[in-house]
Amino acid sequence: MGILNGNLPLASLRLKDDDLPTETSIEQKRTEDAVLEKFVPYAPHNPSKHSLDTIQLERKKHLSYLKKALKGIGSWGAALDASKPWMLYWICHSLDLLEFQFTPDLIDKAIQTLKQWQLPSGGFGGGGDQLAHLATTYAAVNAVAILGTPEAYALIDRRSLYQFLLRMKQPDGSFTMHEGGEIDIRGSYCALSAAALTHLLTPELTENCIEFIQRSQTYEGGIGPYPGKEAHNGYTFCGLAAMEIVGGVHTLDVDQLTTWCCGRQMQLEGGFQGRTNKLVDGCYSFWGAGDFPILKAELDRQQLQSEDYLLDREALQEYILLCCQSESGGLIDKPGKGPDFYHTCYCLSGLSTVQHHVQYHDVQLAVGDAKSTADGLRSLLWTSKNEYIIVGDVDNLLAATHPVHNITLRAARNIIHHFYKEEIKSIQDLLPKDEEITLYAAEE
Ligand code: FPP
Ligand code: ZN
Repeated sequence: MGILNGNLPLASLRLKDDDLPTETSIEQKRTEDAVLEKFVPYAPHNPSKHSLDTIQLERKKHLSYLKKALKGIGSWGAALDASKPWMLYWICHSLDLLEFQFTPDLIDKAIQTLKQWQLPSGGFGGGGDQLAHLATTYAAVNAVAILGTPEAYALIDRRSLYQFLLRMKQPDGSFTMHEGGEIDIRGSYCALSAAALTHLLTPELTENCIEFIQRSQTYEGGIGPYPGKEAHNGYTFCGLAAMEIVGGVHTLDVDQLTTWCCGRQMQLEGGFQGRTNKLVDGCYSFWGAGDFPILKAELDRQQLQSEDYLLDREALQEYILLCCQSESGGLIDKPGKGPDFYHTCYCLSGLSTVQHHVQYHDVQLAVGDAKSTADGLRSLLWTSKNEYIIVGDVDNLLAATHPVHNITLRAARNIIHHFYKEEIKSIQDLLPKDEEITLYAAEE
């Protein structure tokens, strides 16, 4: 539907508060003012309104911002010294969504760089001299998938990775982010996503995972970092995607969860907030909108079919395209902020999510007796319909992102084909075969 396509005066969509100003309500009004300024030239009641068709994703500017980073970043990068695999993933995934062609040279350079961060005892650290961490391991595995060559796949030491994942696993089904580190649902998602892509899901790794996530769903309906903590879209996506990997979404209160997720899309801004009564932020374009393909798949499985994702696809695109593009390239949290690779990655990932119709094919995959192998292969059952909703120029269309792993569908299919070669041969007949869901074979 969209905000700018509607008939309502924009100001009528402002958050209605109780007229008792607080720091938060003042910030909310300030944010609405900044968003309105961006929306006014396209507003339905503006007599000299610009056509929405003229709205552009500044592809060239974003590509140049990202490509520059591949040559090295300035000394400010020291602040992100513990997040090097993250930066590689954010940059490479953004480039992949923008359909950038990675050269063999670049791929080789990225492989050599990633190698330095893998530890002999398994997993990847934030940099060469750091402890292995689940978040940077997730980012490194995703980066390998995006690079997508046999040399890149061969870089992952699966044996030690599995040992690392098991060492992080706690008896209650949770994961600690690193040895002696904090426990929260990011760990469940990072561990299960990396394991699913590399064929390492085992009953030992997944035991009690469903129960831990289920206990982290709060009275509001969203999922918090661990039981008893506030629901937040970052953790909700992690919990929901982790549940999808192990086939446990139905154990959540899906009704309450859906209501909570819908409530996070802002009325006027069209973008998402992370939690109740907080501000819109471009990064929740993925952490928030990313919940909907998984929710839709579950509603379909429960035969509560909804025709589409239960969010306003156009409104989110309007927010991203009009409020989150930096003049100098890269994407941002909200008007007035500067670009960074994290917001660039998650604004683009959210944009891709709401442009495409990615759907789950509910096929029962039996691979011998191994439920966990079949669980890993569930990620292959997501395909993109040839139907798009594009706000602005048709060239704004990005590549489709995988709703669970947040790498392109192509990158996900290729890595799964590589690590599950034998199993795929034995279940080939069960896999969906329409034209638009071609399974891309990894290059030999
Ligand atoms: C609150 O920040 C946000 C957090 C405490 C973390 C959110 C978690 C994620 C984004 C998910 C990370 C996922 C992986 C895979 C590691 P805030 O109080 O500054 O923001 P808010 O006001 O928007 O809540
Ligand atoms: Zn943000």
